[in-house]
Amino acid sequence: MNESTTPAVRATGISKFFGGIPALDAVDFELAWGEVHALLGENGAGKTTLSNILAGIYRADAGQLLVEGTERDFRNPAQAIEAGIGMVHQHFKLVEPMTVAENIHLGWPETPRIISHRTLVERTRAFMDRIGLHVDPTAKIWQLSVGEQQRVEILRVLARGARVLILDEPTAVLTAHEARELFAVMRQLVAQGLSVIFISHKLNEVLEVSDRVTVLRGGRHVITRPTAGATARELAQLMTGEERELTVEHRDVLGEVVLELRGVSARNHRGLPALHHIDLAVRSGEIMGIAGVSGNGQSELAEVISALRAVDEGRIFIDDRDVTNAAVRAVADLGVGHIPEDRIGVGMVASAPVKDNAVLRHYRSAELSQGITLHRGGVVAFAQHLVDAARVQTRSVHATAGQMSGGNQQRLVARREAMIAERVLIAAHPTRGLDVMASQEVQAAIVDRRDAGCAVVLISDDLDEVLLLADRVAVMYEGRIMGVFDRAAADREHLGLLMGGHEQPVEPA
Ligand SMILES: Nc1ncnc2c1ncn2[C@@H]1O[C@H](COP(=O)(O)OP(=O)(O)O)[C@@H](O)[C@H]1O
Ligand SMILES: [Mg+2]
Repeated sequence: MNESTTPAVRATGISKFFGGIPALDAVDFELAWGEVHALLGENGAGKTTLSNILAGIYRADAGQLLVEGTERDFRNPAQAIEAGIGMVHQHFKLVEPMTVAENIHLGWPETPRIISHRTLVERTRAFMDRIGLHVDPTAKIWQLSVGEQQRVEILRVLARGARVLILDEPTAVLTAHEARELFAVMRQLVAQGLSVIFISHKLNEVLEVSDRVTVLRGGRHVITRPTAGATARELAQLMTGEERELTVEHRDVLGEVVLELRGVSARNHRGLPALHHIDLAVRSGEIMGIAGVSGNGQSELAEVISALRAVDEGRIFIDDRDVTNAAVRAVADLGVGHIPEDRIGVGMVASAPVKDNAVLRHYRSAELSQGITLHRGGVVAFAQHLVDAARVQTRSVHATAGQMSGGNQQRLVARREAMIAERVLIAAHPTRGLDVMASQEVQAAIVDRRDAGCAVVLISDDLDEVLLLADRVAVMYEGRIMGVFDRAAADREHLGLLMGGHEQPVEPA
């Protein structure tokens, strides 16, 4: 077969229904050899569903799938991988207590049954050299950063012989630096003749890394075109079907200090110092943006404020009440909402119904409880209200939360937390992984809370987002506050330098 003319994948008229609702409606998709093909669309557009069909996780209800010119109807992922199609999912499927080498070899057909540890490591190294992608083969998965774990996933799929690699929103969990490294890997793979389907809703990433782009909207195919010559603006319009921009008013008049940290130090989950004598005061009606490269103590900062992490030294006050090392529930009851970075692990119970997740943090409120049991009708009504308000797309509030797309999960958690945040809202990377429209909705909800008098702490590694939303900006680097600036006076270049640790901390006035 001539690989230069037969596409790697040709899907025509693919439809898929869930409970009678079309997730995909007669979609055409073609993947050439040696290309990075971006699949672009808003949350719920059908990107994951299409990929799942290509990867043998779902079966299409209609349409035809040709892989290297041969008609296929995969019944399971094993059949897809046999045909050379492998997918790296939004949530990794690695075995945490095992090593990198062991994970890569799990299910690798060529692995001998009995193999010494040393041979396994050597084989893994040789394989990594061949692909040009490296992670310490002897490291345990739990010891790796998210970016490294993702590399292991990619290696695992390639070890099984995938020539078509599907990456479902791979950058959603990465820092900007890690994302750039991943792009280099993707370019390297297609240079070797493989094909990559890159799923994203981030226009700049699609423009940066892809050769062609296919836009899906509402389960329909909108366009397939070469990426070269496309602009972010026109792709955004194709994605959303409209043109919008969020504008945020900034005010100078500030209220009283609501949240105050005095000399707070804390350790990270590995027991290492993560916060060093943090002083920070956030006022009613302001958004304090915390700028910085991920991993410089921002997560720990969010966690100490919401009482998820113990404070070693220093004090935390909310409305002049000392809440240092108070119970999570007690802090929430004071009106502190937290949109966590890890929304699935911390913000949600994925196996529980949407309605239970909706009331996860409200279960003591009067409308919902009758004594110690929850009033069932109240829960459903409340959940429905939340789902409608946040425009969460779900079949029903009784459906399992984990079945919703990541974007819908994020919307639900964000809106729920905004509702309990009467005094303080901590928003950690609130739009990470969201598409344009959903990002704007979450951002608008944050600004609403500010306007209602909340003290907002916005943590983001996206400086554009910080400068769009924040009234003041604090820069974090290696667990320290490098300086606090009025947004109007903040100089992007200076902030960038501070984020990279290139200047001494500014002494608080
Ligand atoms: N297993 C499922 N059960 C019910 N509905 C689903 C399921 N998977 C996806 N959907 C629905 O199909 C639509 C497309 O979802 P998805 O493919 O995840 O979109 P994307 O990946 O573009 O965000 C959404 O409305 C989603 O709620
Ligand atoms: Mg998806």
